Amino acid sequence: MERQYHASAEERRADIQAHAHSIGVTEAYISTLVDTFYGRIRAHDLIGPIFEEAIGDNWPPHLAKMKQFWSAVALNTGAYSGKPVPAHQKLSSVRPWHFNIWLALFRQPLEETAPSREAIVYFMERAERIAQSVQLAMFGAPGLEKPESVS
Ligand code: HEM
Repeated sequence: MERQYHASAEERRADIQAHAHSIGVTEAYISTLVDTFYGRIRAHDLIGPIFEEAIGDNWPPHLAKMKQFWSAVALNTGAYSGKPVPAHQKLSSVRPWHFNIWLALFRQPLEETAPSREAIVYFMERAERIAQSVQLAMFGAPGLEKPESVS
């Protein structure tokens, strides 16, 4: 008889963590990645000021929150329960092209320090997917607007 396998949330979490750990994605690496990434974000001419304006002196709690976010996304720990979309919707100076800079800056520390090639892909796939959904919520779907040439 065919065996039916219904993974519980705990089994699923254990599988995700075992796979992530096998490619070097750990809480310790997430902490390094987040610290390095936001160091580059803050130093960037175009995107840095957006963060400085919104975060001001509150960098330690922001970094702690972003470590929880990546722990939830990459290790399925449930450590983050915030709402990224409204947090970005209130940032009125953000434009769609800022997301390309964000993603390029996120890739840099990964290329330099990731524990494996698979870990780079693992983080980038998730970052790109979330960047897409935040952009969709902020700006709508590109291509759905009426083209200017059509009257
Ligand atoms: C143009 C690109 C982006 C800009 C300028 C940006 C900027 C910001 C800023 C300024 C905050 C702090 C808001 C506040 O505390 O008032 C924030 C929060 C956050 N961002 Fe982004 N972000 C960008 C893209 C992304 C992407 C691609 C992700 C995920 C892959 C992300 C994940 C988050 C999360 C999880 C928070 C915390 C939300 C909360 O308060 O719970 N951001 N972002």
